[in-house]
Amino acid sequence: MHIQTARSAPENIKADLLAIGHYEGVSRLNATVQTLDKALDGMLAAEIAEQRFEGKTGQTLLLATHGALPAKRILLVGLGKRALLTLNTVRKAAAASVRKAKEVSAKTIATTLLGAEQGDLKPEQIAMAIAEAALLADYEFLAYKTQDKEEAERRIIETLTVIESERRRIAAIERGIAGGRINSEPVIYARNLVNEPASQLTPARLLDEAKKMAELPGVTLEYFDEAQAGEKGMGAFCGVAQGSDEPSYFIHLTYRPRGQGVKKRIVLIGKGITFDSGGLSLKPAQHMETMKIDMSGAAAVLAVFSALPDIRPHLEIHGIIPATENMPSGRAQKPGDVVRTISGKTIEVVNTDAEGRLTIADALGYAQALEPDTIIDLATLTGSCVVALGEEVAGLFATDPRLGQRIKDAAERSGEPVWEMPLVESYEEFLKSDIADFRNIAKVRYGDAIVAALFMKQFAGDTPWAHLDIAGPAWQERADNPMIPKGATGFGIRTLLELIKHL
Ligand code: BES
Ligand code: ZN
Ligand code: ZN
Repeated sequence: MHIQTARSAPENIKADLLAIGHYEGVSRLNATVQTLDKALDGMLAAEIAEQRFEGKTGQTLLLATHGALPAKRILLVGLGKRALLTLNTVRKAAAASVRKAKEVSAKTIATTLLGAEQGDLKPEQIAMAIAEAALLADYEFLAYKTQDKEEAERRIIETLTVIESERRRIAAIERGIAGGRINSEPVIYARNLVNEPASQLTPARLLDEAKKMAELPGVTLEYFDEAQAGEKGMGAFCGVAQGSDEPSYFIHLTYRPRGQGVKKRIVLIGKGITFDSGGLSLKPAQHMETMKIDMSGAAAVLAVFSALPDIRPHLEIHGIIPATENMPSGRAQKPGDVVRTISGKTIEVVNTDAEGRLTIADALGYAQALEPDTIIDLATLTGSCVVALGEEVAGLFATDPRLGQRIKDAAERSGEPVWEMPLVESYEEFLKSDIADFRNIAKVRYGDAIVAALFMKQFAGDTPWAHLDIAGPAWQERADNPMIPKGATGFGIRTLLELIKHL
């Protein structure tokens, strides 16, 4: 989808579909709607009443113009209550417009700067939100579809034009559109990786993607195969890797900004289990169906790196991905095995399906040598977190309240819901092992999202560390949110980018 801006009034723009915002609970039509309504002989006002269009956020009303206007269709899109308008409202409205446009095979869409008249949001921010949401809503994963090609082609949107009548706003809108692309393209990249079947998206393929990132300006790559990781002492990572026939890699990307001015050193860790069968603690079939998504954290880290040359932060950023499958085999690690981590601490592997925390324990240990100011990991870590927060909200754990708050703020601005969970100190008791320093699952049944976070905390040292459990929001089964497609969502990336921009 090409996104551009044009100087035009809504009544003059030629497009297959023209999206116009409408607030909830206002009886008088806004000036734009009035003008269009006039050209349509009052049809728009009549339809609003007829269809009981309320203007709730993301609600839409479609009307064909039959030649009365240069635009073939008008789409009224709800912006909710005027006083409550935020960038997230604009995103939802833009995404709903794009989904509707796809439904009716509109090739060219135009939209006004949704919500601009309300006055709180700047044209650049609005254009950015529109472009970002439009690209995210347009996404479909069609790599393996051989049938219904024509139908898919009918859904392709060629251009989206953000129209604006005042010349002085055009440059800001252009900047916004560029920013929207920078935010959404990494998300789309990550969705493609996560949607790819595990037979294709192997640890070696994750390494290939990291190699691509290493070609970007400022980015370098170091990686270790299983033998090298073993020599480094990453016994927890190697324990998970040993059951798999696919070669495993411990991947370390580094971004260094040009010249002086490095303020901080950040480490991002992404869980990179390209398939989680559970290992010998085998998952039941139903729980295994979507386990190709267990590298969503890794995809998010790679995606963030893809955007760094565009946002050029004055931060040194490390991306660490322990990439392996978790498979049962004659060589697989067994429940009861004890592994030694790079930190020297030992772990009794009571359940081989709690593998993410094992690989991340070594990633955290490895990161210590980098002497970072902050470590953040993203992991599809626990079913328990999905039980607690559902499929749309990520669990956030932070050892440093300021870091936690920063992540919450960034998540709020990007519209990705996170909820902070407690690191309940007394639960650390449950991690005591009779034979090693720690066990990888608790002796009790409940609260595993917290227990898993407490387990990893043992390896984070004194570095402020935050953990995002994205097991729920990394994947979407329903198709009811226009911004979030079925399948891989690319959750967490926009929050990380927002955080990096503000650090
Ligand atoms: N990858 C899973 C967690 C998961 C569950 C991700 C659902 C996405 C959706 C993780 O490795 C796992 O298997 N966790 C176990 C831990 C248990 C053995 C303590 C779980 O949550 O069941
Ligand atoms: Zn598992
Ligand atoms: Zn897993």
